[in-house]
Amino acid sequence: MFRLPSFHPKVLLWRAATNIGPLPVLVRARESAVWQDFWRTETSEAAFLDYAKNTPLRDWLANYCAALQPESVVELGPNVGANLQAIWRADRNIKLYGVELNDHAVKWGMQHMPDGCGAKLMAGSMADVGGVFERNGIDGADVIFSCGATMHVNDDIFAAAKQQALKLARKAIIHVEYNAWTPAELQNGRNWRSSFLSDRWVRDYVAEYESMPGVSRVDCIRIPPEINVARNIGRLWINDMTAMIVVHRT
Ligand SMILES: C[S@@+](CC[C@H](N)C(=O)[O-])C[C@H]1O[C@@H](n2cnc3c(N)ncnc32)[C@H](O)[C@@H]1O
Repeated sequence: MFRLPSFHPKVLLWRAATNIGPLPVLVRARESAVWQDFWRTETSEAAFLDYAKNTPLRDWLANYCAALQPESVVELGPNVGANLQAIWRADRNIKLYGVELNDHAVKWGMQHMPDGCGAKLMAGSMADVGGVFERNGIDGADVIFSCGATMHVNDDIFAAAKQQALKLARKAIIHVEYNAWTPAELQNGRNWRSSFLSDRWVRDYVAEYESMPGVSRVDCIRIPPEINVARNIGRLWINDMTAMIVVHRT
């Protein structure tokens, strides 16, 4: 495999650029705490209106969840709750909850919840999903899912959320997230995160769950490209949600 030797001028220049002077602010990845702060403090009406829009992807996810015939569903990182509303439209009997870091989004979402929907958004971190359940008198849920949310948390927060989801989810855990289908994608995606362009933590979600206790099967499903949401990051157009991973409980 071709590799530049570590004393090659290009490597030395890159090291200098990322370690000296004001440049690191521009070219280094911001730490998880900075991003968590960003999500926690978002207050823009325009952002909430955008998150509130329904999309074919939300309906696709909602129909999948409803087909599992859960009595209760919890979303990790729901923002204003548009996915939960899509699930409510798919099946009006499911009890719906969300655990959201941003309490402005929680308030906005609760104020704009359609009549009869009854989804309850709760402020808190997915790293403390068990604590949020306890404080709200919820003893578990049939399905726990995330959509474009665990990609924005670091490995410590994800590990805590995963461990608790494995205790609390009775039927399935679902992630519509930035999944690495191959080891190369995992490695490249992690390198991409260490540039300043991305706050996305890629994971091999199948490997995260397949040998965990209480897991009977893990499905990894391609999101139909025609309903996936492309965004531009830097000069690239990307679909940052690359799979739906379904973790079935025994
Ligand atoms: C890109 S938005 C996706 C929102 C929603 N899931 C959707 O599909 O529209 C990511 C959401 O995750 C939330 N979030 C980030 N870190 C979180 C954490 N530690 N616990 C709970 N929510 C978190 C953010 O506040 C934000 O609302």
